[in-house]
Amino acid sequence: MPTVSFRGREIGCERGDRLRTVLREAGLSPHSDGADRLNCRGFGSCGTCAVAVSGAVSEPTRRERLRLSVPPHDGDGELRLACQTRVLGDVTVQKFPGFWGQHTDEPPLSGDEPPQGDDGAAEP
Ligand code: FES
Repeated sequence: MPTVSFRGREIGCERGDRLRTVLREAGLSPHSDGADRLNCRGFGSCGTCAVAVSGAVSEPTRRERLRLSVPPHDGDGELRLACQTRVLGDVTVQKFPGFWGQHTDEPPLSGDEPPQGDDGAAEP
């Protein structure tokens, strides 16, 4: 049984499960605070479920590669769409700041941060 590590939690799942589904069923989210309710629900079009993943996962789908090539993403291969990614073994997941989780040049979010605005800045 693969294990997904995210924000200090370890979640067991079945091989082949979609990463976004695994996280949401565990009460976690691959979305930033603002995008948690405003997203495409796993269709692969909004790009807000982008996360960094290390470990055994499926190859990017055509839909995923297309969405990650459109700004604010840059298609550099650093991020995956959790809704299009299937877990094939133990994985570690990180979410970066920004509405789309696109600020990979900043430290990943730990889950303890205050809510963020659309520009990724902390709200007062
Ligand atoms: S939920 Fe919209 S791209 Fe994954």
